[in-house]
Amino acid sequence: MAEKLRLDKLLGNMGMGTRKEVKQMIKAGMVKVNGSVEKKAERLIYPAQDEVLLNNQPVCYEKYIYLMMNKPAGYVSANEDKRDPVVMELLEEPYSNMELFVAGRLDKDTEGLLILTNNGKFAHNMLAPKKHVPKTYYAKIAGRVTEEDKVIFAEGVTLEDGYQCMPAELSILVSDEESEIQLIIHEGKFHQVKRMFEAVGKHVTYLQRVQIGALELDRSLEEGAVKILSAEELALIGADLGI
Ligand code: URA
Repeated sequence: MAEKLRLDKLLGNMGMGTRKEVKQMIKAGMVKVNGSVEKKAERLIYPAQDEVLLNNQPVCYEKYIYLMMNKPAGYVSANEDKRDPVVMELLEEPYSNMELFVAGRLDKDTEGLLILTNNGKFAHNMLAPKKHVPKTYYAKIAGRVTEEDKVIFAEGVTLEDGYQCMPAELSILVSDEESEIQLIIHEGKFHQVKRMFEAVGKHVTYLQRVQIGALELDRSLEEGAVKILSAEELALIGADLGI
């Protein structure tokens, strides 16, 4: 059956305004459907065939949107938080009007590649153990990271609560009193990277996610900025995420 949705919902999903603003725009005669002014917010639209214009500009409907954010430290990966600022506050229009959520959270003090989407299935699958989407982190570690740590991580380090992690690939970039590493993990437990290092007696002092699947953080994105992911970039995250 052809997909259909309400006119106000379509405009809202495309970030044209809040639900209330969109309703006002429709009432004010600013919206045309197939060439005629439409004043009913509940008018059903078949996006594959209907043409919608707002102020005589076409509104191209995409069911799902995927954004890459370069997350700065100090923001919680959530839609709202009682205490701290959240990543959604960093969004500007039209994205700030969309009903997005985080696919694969980062800790408040972690930086780097974060994906925001309105596709719940995608967000869910990103974390699903069966999908094993690899995530690559760059970190600074207080203490000397050793070849022995590499072996322990490759075999599956055991966390303080007894959980045995899946094998992870540790690359040592600098081994000194402060070390620098890259780590690829295939799951996303709470504070996973930090807890893996705590399990070998070391402390993460800086953490940045640099890659999800084969999709790398775009280094030209300023902290807090977002860009829309193309179909090609999405494909790099891996098949079967409900895209
Ligand atoms: N592991 C952590 O410890 N924190 C993150 O934010 C992501 C992975």
